[in-house]
Amino acid sequence: MKETVNLAVIGAGRIGRLHASHLAHRIAGARLVALADVRRQAAEQCAADLGVSKVFQDYRKVLDDPEVQAVVICSSTDTHARIISEAASAGKQIFCEKPIAQDLRQIDDALESVAEAGVKLQIGFNRRFDPNFRRIWELIREGKIGEPHLLRITSRDPAPPPMEYLRVSGGIFLDMMIHDFDMARYIVGQEVQELYAAGGVRIDPEIGKAGDVDTAVVTLKFSGGCFGTIDNSRKAVYGYDQRLEVFGSKGMADTENNTPNRARLITEEGFREDLPLYFFMERYTESYLNEMNAFIRCIRENADPLVTGADARAPVVMGKAAGLSLEQNRPVALSEVS
Ligand SMILES: NC(=O)c1ccc[n+]([C@@H]2O[C@H](COP(=O)([O-])OP(=O)(O)OC[C@H]3O[C@@H](n4cnc5c(N)ncnc54)[C@H](O)[C@@H]3O)[C@@H](O)[C@H]2O)c1
Repeated sequence: MKETVNLAVIGAGRIGRLHASHLAHRIAGARLVALADVRRQAAEQCAADLGVSKVFQDYRKVLDDPEVQAVVICSSTDTHARIISEAASAGKQIFCEKPIAQDLRQIDDALESVAEAGVKLQIGFNRRFDPNFRRIWELIREGKIGEPHLLRITSRDPAPPPMEYLRVSGGIFLDMMIHDFDMARYIVGQEVQELYAAGGVRIDPEIGKAGDVDTAVVTLKFSGGCFGTIDNSRKAVYGYDQRLEVFGSKGMADTENNTPNRARLITEEGFREDLPLYFFMERYTESYLNEMNAFIRCIRENADPLVTGADARAPVVMGKAAGLSLEQNRPVALSEVS
């Protein structure tokens, strides 16, 4: 086991602040030494909150800093591929938030830089590290449900993001369902060969005017014979709805929504429980901690990252195939867009 890993976080927005606070306080073997954000004030505020002394506006200063061994890239998606390539050339170990890019060539260029430099790259598909989903993954690998026949993923947000975000998000398949595409591959352990997408605007006509849909269902055909469905909505009035079921030859494994507590009220009128945890920051806290622990462990133990560059690319291919399928109203083979 090597000594403590010195890290810098690039991008001190929503997710950057979360990873920074975990690295500063909750991850053994990690030391947060620097923060960078084009909005210098955001980096300064985060650094002051966490007691970090080095603050930069230009992320290149982080890459030039010999004290920094690893970077955690949490800037906007359009910057990821470039920063990955430069960080790899600078010899830094890399954690990058999903997705690397919306463009496959940019992803391939970034992955090539990583391979050439021989550094580690882990991608922020945090849901793989959620204890419920991870347990289902284990049950399948232990053979408990036999051969997987059907997968069902429900993934609904409590409210749509602001329109300015939606206009540059890449659309529901690349922005939101990308997590479910990753989960589908991860849980079943097979690649998706073909998919068919249906979708429409059921929540906000402005989303339609921006060229996107807010409600979608995708059916999946896996290479090993499993079939799957994913449904997404941008607005579930009862909060974040994250459920998964795998049905196989020997049984079924599923997981329900996480709620803030397990208390239940039962009266003559019926049963009552609290609503699900509101959104991803509340629901997936443990997964964010677990994924960062895994990243630090893979550096300290010189092991392979648990979410690889190939894992980063495949869901983007699926997102593009889903976009094409919706546009042309037909099943699309992934080989058509990869
Ligand atoms: N895994 C997850 O669950 C999850 C959740 C949220 C966001 N994300 C991803 O994380 C990334 C950031 O999302 P967010 O919601 O935190 O966005 P955000 O807008 O809140 O934060 C992004 C930050 O990056 C900064 N930034 C932009 N360009 C930069 C540059 N060149 N150098 C340094 N800083 C720069 C911005 O000033 C901003 O502070 C996105 O790629 C998003 O897809 C992942």
